[in-house]
Amino acid sequence: MTTPIMGDGLPAPLLEMLGDEYQVFPWDTSEGSEALSTCLGVITYGHPGVDGSLMDRMPNLRVISNHGVGVDHIVVADAHDRRLPVGNTPGCLDDATADMTMALLMASARNVVIGDHFARGPEFTHYDPSILIGHEVTGSTLGIVGMGRIGKQVAKRARAFNMKILYHNRSRDEGAEEELGVAFRSLDDLLKESDFVALNCPLTEETTGLIGKAQFELMKPSATLINMARGPVVVTDDLYETLKTGRIRSAALDVTDPEPLPRDHSLLTLENLVIAPHLGSASHRTRQRMLEMTVQNLAAGLAGQSLPYPVLPK
Ligand code: DGY
Repeated sequence: MTTPIMGDGLPAPLLEMLGDEYQVFPWDTSEGSEALSTCLGVITYGHPGVDGSLMDRMPNLRVISNHGVGVDHIVVADAHDRRLPVGNTPGCLDDATADMTMALLMASARNVVIGDHFARGPEFTHYDPSILIGHEVTGSTLGIVGMGRIGKQVAKRARAFNMKILYHNRSRDEGAEEELGVAFRSLDDLLKESDFVALNCPLTEETTGLIGKAQFELMKPSATLINMARGPVVVTDDLYETLKTGRIRSAALDVTDPEPLPRDHSLLTLENLVIAPHLGSASHRTRQRMLEMTVQNLAAGLAGQSLPYPVLPK
């Protein structure tokens, strides 16, 4: 007997891990969908939306297992109202996401992407010490918005660059201040003082639209914004205007709103933007662990056991 589950574009290694025990239905939310009437479990892979109305159309649903830590695409309160456990993959991706935060920060500061294009092109005919001069990372000020697990890993890396590290969080974290030498600031003060602002917070009601025109106005003209959180934390149109007019030096985005941006989106024309296709946790080791945790949550939920990595009610 196989257990029917629904999943969107599950990759071969995940299907292999699931093995013969499961029958995987493709994501189909249309009227009369066999997947909805049959499946006992859901794997959200690549952020398909799941809300109460979808849950209500799945009479046999026992568990929602999310591949990834961010669950903003799932209405978790709706799941808990229906006594459905939701699992995610916290912790295992902190290092990879912090590495990528630093990679984007460095790439933007030191013109790595634009330099790569230039070095491949016909205009690079001789070494010219006056081109593509960037912003020195060592010794500069980093403002981290969100001092959670990932934010703390970013702070650890920034210490090695001898950076002054500020942070803003819903609540002060005196443990982090002591351990990592980070200093708490209001969001406004963090924006005013930082050379680099790294967004490492979850997407919630409070963080949606957190960085828009008014916040960009506070930032240094030489500053760089790095968004490793979720696209909607930043107001896309305001970011475009800010970069276009040179109000801040640059931005580096792992996530956008919408994601992906339409191929002809004006942001994609800007040279002071470095952009990646949501690669925060995309290292082999981390992705392997995420798959394992996803399957463990699924199996526990199907067996009626507590999930090893549950998303708890707020
Ligand atoms: C996460 O873990 O939230 C990543 O963004 C991948 O979903």
